Amino acid sequence: MIRSKLPNIGVSIFSEMSDMANEFSAVNLSQGFPDFEISEKLISLSHKYMSEGNNQYAPMPGVLKLRQKISQKIEASYHHTYDPETEITVTAGGTQALFTVIAASVQEGDQVIIFEPAYDSYGPVVKLFGGNPVYIELKSPDFLIDWDEVRKHLSSQTRMIILNTPHNPTGTVLKDSDLQALAKLVSGTKIMVLSDEVYEYLYFGAEGHHSVSQYPGLAERSFVIGSFGKIFSATGWKMGYCAAPAKLTKEFRKLHQFIVYAVNTPNQFAIADMLGDSEYLSEIADFYKQKRDYFVKLISEIGLKITPADGSYFQLVDFHEITELKSMDLAKKMTQEYGVASVPLSAFYHNNPKSGVLRFCFAKNENTLNLAAERIAKFYKDMTS
Ligand SMILES: Cc1ncc(COP(=O)(O)O)c(C=O)c1O
Repeated sequence: MIRSKLPNIGVSIFSEMSDMANEFSAVNLSQGFPDFEISEKLISLSHKYMSEGNNQYAPMPGVLKLRQKISQKIEASYHHTYDPETEITVTAGGTQALFTVIAASVQEGDQVIIFEPAYDSYGPVVKLFGGNPVYIELKSPDFLIDWDEVRKHLSSQTRMIILNTPHNPTGTVLKDSDLQALAKLVSGTKIMVLSDEVYEYLYFGAEGHHSVSQYPGLAERSFVIGSFGKIFSATGWKMGYCAAPAKLTKEFRKLHQFIVYAVNTPNQFAIADMLGDSEYLSEIADFYKQKRDYFVKLISEIGLKITPADGSYFQLVDFHEITELKSMDLAKKMTQEYGVASVPLSAFYHNNPKSGVLRFCFAKNENTLNLAAERIAKFYKDMTS
């Protein structure tokens, strides 16, 4: 019999809720994926590069043209230059990049700081490689990082801090002051930073998105993770990248070559061309802001309390004033009896705390959001009448 390496881990909550959505024919606002078509231009580019015969293995770190475009895009936005030859690797989505960074960096007994609520892969992967997650709670309602608290949790065993901005599931976006505070905290230490920036183009506040690559004291010790699934609303393509200084990338690639070796060739060429389309990139934030505003309006009109997300394509909605159900029970009831699937906020914590908060994905057509809102309104009416 196999001895489980992750004995306390089941199927991811995203699969669980999506399966439940299918079973009960619910509107699926649980897993984070758009329900609208991707760019026609991207599809024709993909056809073009396949037809032209780019169908064999790509170079292990990625097609050079794509790595050059990634480097140019980072330089244009954050004024930091990554060498495409030695500092950028194309990955099978953000997920593989995150896994590879942790696998390459975390040694037995290392402590890794994870802010909760957190994307579900961080903690289990740290544990898989013998690390000890040190969980620090983001305090509601604003889910901000208390940097004094972080300082108190640092020790000689701290190996890595995992950041995620814009943040899934809370929609918060780190400010310049947060990254300055982090830079100060890690200065003179050997602590590395894993910066999950897969939602970098999905920000709605005035300050925009700040990447760790903008801060020399952070860039020199950070792995920055991006996702083309998020940038091009094509989550099924499972393509992303990791940008990091050469000495970190060298170790990253030692594992990358054995985990996946290389990523889909024709689509790397297609994405390289799309990254040259600055108009497309500059319109992403507005496109998703309209969706956020639309969903927030629908939910507020029902009478529910809501703090609009500053980034990502997720919106938290707090139900605790109208029901005492814990978020997992609430999410199940809402899916099975009312036909709207979401993800309970509790699923983003290692210890599943009680809360009446659900996460909804608003990367959907207006018709989908309208239908979900009608059903949530029915739930609200039943709970308050
Ligand atoms: C915070 C965060 N990181 C990483 C990922 C994974 O990205 P990808 O779909 O490119 O693997 C996701 C996907 O939902 C995410 O929300």
